[in-house]
Amino acid sequence: MAKILVTGGTGYIGSHTVVELQKVGFEVIIVDNLSNSSIDVLSGIEKITGIRPAFENIDCVDYVSMDRMFEKHNNIEAIIHFAASKAVGESVEKPLLYYRNNLVSLINLLQLMPIHKVKNIVFSSSCTVYGQPDILPVTEDAPIKPALSPYGNTKQIGEEIIRDTIYANPCYQSVILRYFNPIGAHSSAEIGELPNGVPNNLLPFVTQTAIGLRKQLQVFGNDYNTPDGSCVRDYIHVVDLAKAHVVAVERMLKNETKKRVETFNLGTGRGLSVLEIIETFEKVTGVSVPYKIVGRREGDIEKVWADPTYANGELGWTAKETVEETLRSAWAWEQNLEKRNIQE
Ligand code: UD1
Repeated sequence: MAKILVTGGTGYIGSHTVVELQKVGFEVIIVDNLSNSSIDVLSGIEKITGIRPAFENIDCVDYVSMDRMFEKHNNIEAIIHFAASKAVGESVEKPLLYYRNNLVSLINLLQLMPIHKVKNIVFSSSCTVYGQPDILPVTEDAPIKPALSPYGNTKQIGEEIIRDTIYANPCYQSVILRYFNPIGAHSSAEIGELPNGVPNNLLPFVTQTAIGLRKQLQVFGNDYNTPDGSCVRDYIHVVDLAKAHVVAVERMLKNETKKRVETFNLGTGRGLSVLEIIETFEKVTGVSVPYKIVGRREGDIEKVWADPTYANGELGWTAKETVEETLRSAWAWEQNLEKRNIQE
């Protein structure tokens, strides 16, 4: 079975994707510099699949080391490029770190691909490229809005770098996946989201508050033009998201792509508010999440959810998990983390 390079493979979405790739028989090589993940994730993957993936501790920004890595693991057939920095607030404070990490790594991969005869690359993009869409649900051909942060800009520029490079060179093809809001964890609770320090994202903050690590969740704004006033997002189970990567890779390897660069929304098609997430979490876990409404967070979009019709039809892929099951899995993972910390 084909060899797949997964950059950022010990990260949140990366690790779940490695599991799904191994489950269908792909051989995986992970490249990760562990800047925002732990080496223990490899053991979690091994517990689930019975296979410890090959691992290289390399920063994708380091061209020479990446070149050597491709030499060592020859015959890589596709790359899934997750490795990137992703904290919106930090990107405003340290823009060069974001431009360097997120764009130099991509440029390195695109330069190394023809040298090592790798034709296929899947790129992690984000619904952030749409800004606040004028029409909801948002389709792939909705206009790209000016980015609100250097992080968002790296995703827009990354997509452009891919399109320009691939159209200039017939030996490549790419699938760009625009993620909506991934949440939840593998049903085994062996892998999940592991934020460093105080979480920026909603779900880890909810679960950490529920378990008592944080006193109170802050809900950023209840005066938006939404049914209950809090922001609305399209929350998708990370395992559903991971499975779409397997389909994208298989599609490229079987030469089933319709265009040399294809772009897909990965979402459920359903928008949920912050308050609905809290309420549903409390209902399915029986645990209460103390929260208070505070002011809006700068840069937040009011409401966005996907039109996943194109991905559903073309990829034959649909997000299947219910939000109830997804929230339960996030809670099981948080409880498992607590157990591990107590044992240490
Ligand atoms: C953001 C980015 C997205 C990026 C993702 C991953 C934007 C517009 N979106 O998504 O591109 O891929 O992070 O890092 O830049 N919330 C609270 N309290 C909290 C945390 C969050 O109320 O403590 C609310 C937010 O206001 C938002 C929702 O929860 O309405 C989701 O927030 P978050 O999980 O941070 O994701 P996004 O901002 O949607």
